[in-house]
Amino acid sequence: MDHLLPPDIVEAGRTFPSALAACSDLDTLLRLKGAYVGREGSHAARLMDLLKLAPKEQKRELGAAINALKQQWEEGLKSRQAEMEARKRSRKAQTAGWDPSLPPPVPAQGALHPLNRLMDRLVEVFRPLGFHVEEGPEIETEAHNFDGLNIPEDHPAKASSDTFYLAAHPDLLLRTHTSPVQVRTLLRVAQDLGARGGIRFLSPGRVYRKDEIDPTHSPMFHQVEGMLVGHGIGMQHLKGTLEYALRALFGPHTEIRLRPSYFPFVEPGCEVDVSCPLCGAKGCRVCKGSGWVEILGAGLIHPKVLEYAGIDPAEWSGWAFGMGVERMAMMLSQTPDLRLFFENDQRFLKAMGGLD
Ligand code: DAH
Repeated sequence: MDHLLPPDIVEAGRTFPSALAACSDLDTLLRLKGAYVGREGSHAARLMDLLKLAPKEQKRELGAAINALKQQWEEGLKSRQAEMEARKRSRKAQTAGWDPSLPPPVPAQGALHPLNRLMDRLVEVFRPLGFHVEEGPEIETEAHNFDGLNIPEDHPAKASSDTFYLAAHPDLLLRTHTSPVQVRTLLRVAQDLGARGGIRFLSPGRVYRKDEIDPTHSPMFHQVEGMLVGHGIGMQHLKGTLEYALRALFGPHTEIRLRPSYFPFVEPGCEVDVSCPLCGAKGCRVCKGSGWVEILGAGLIHPKVLEYAGIDPAEWSGWAFGMGVERMAMMLSQTPDLRLFFENDQRFLKAMGGLD
């Protein structure tokens, strides 16, 4: 029935598939769409005008032919447009660096802070020796933080220049060490110490002091306290236990040495050094060439501390120690600045795997 149609439209119908295939972008496609099926002046519009003017007996046949053409064009244009849009979307995804064949990203998981991991490790070293964990409040009374520990009224640590006292409760303070857990625990178990056959525990936790923040000071830091009470306990037990624990932490070739020192709550008191775990005691920056690094304070429990808790020092004796967690973490990881432990930079925290 091509004879019923204008020759230029017949030609346009013939070239439609190749014109469609030649469209390389959406703009060209829309222009082609306008020329073929647009509202005015398009091939389809002209065919509709033609149909109106056609003699009655031709209308049926001509109408069917026109509809078939229009449908062919419309469907062709529609599927080509869909194809182009799909291609555009996938190109966008590719340039955005998205590869749909990759497995989905695994969300970052939370992890324990390196300081907590180090404290956990200390607890695990002492656990096989029968030590359990005792905790105490960070807001303490003067009695537990100082008096029960035989710290005299005029001791510099009691000064408000060194200790955070609570403004609304001047008899309360932020504990300056984990030693008040000794007092609390001894007071609690004093009555049945005999039935228990003594006590041994570790107390990890936060402590507070009025220090300016610098590479080696922070107003909040961590300590681990250790205490053992029994019959006939002396310096040899303290030394043996610390040697065992510090070798478990720093390696089997670690040596320890005790230097006399003073803490009001122990007598005798000492500071304990370990042979430098970083250079094998040859002398390095960390041990300042000496081969030794100070690691904790310790001693035999002062009779006044036992008496304060209602424990008879003639019957019981024991030892205690306290160590700074940040100090130890800094040494183990060779971190020169304590503040890194509190800034929560994920890169630093992840790099601290070496503390496990
Ligand atoms: N409390 C001491 C401090 O903060 C550390 C300490 C030393 C704890 C000797 C003890 C000890 O239990 O026996 O510096």
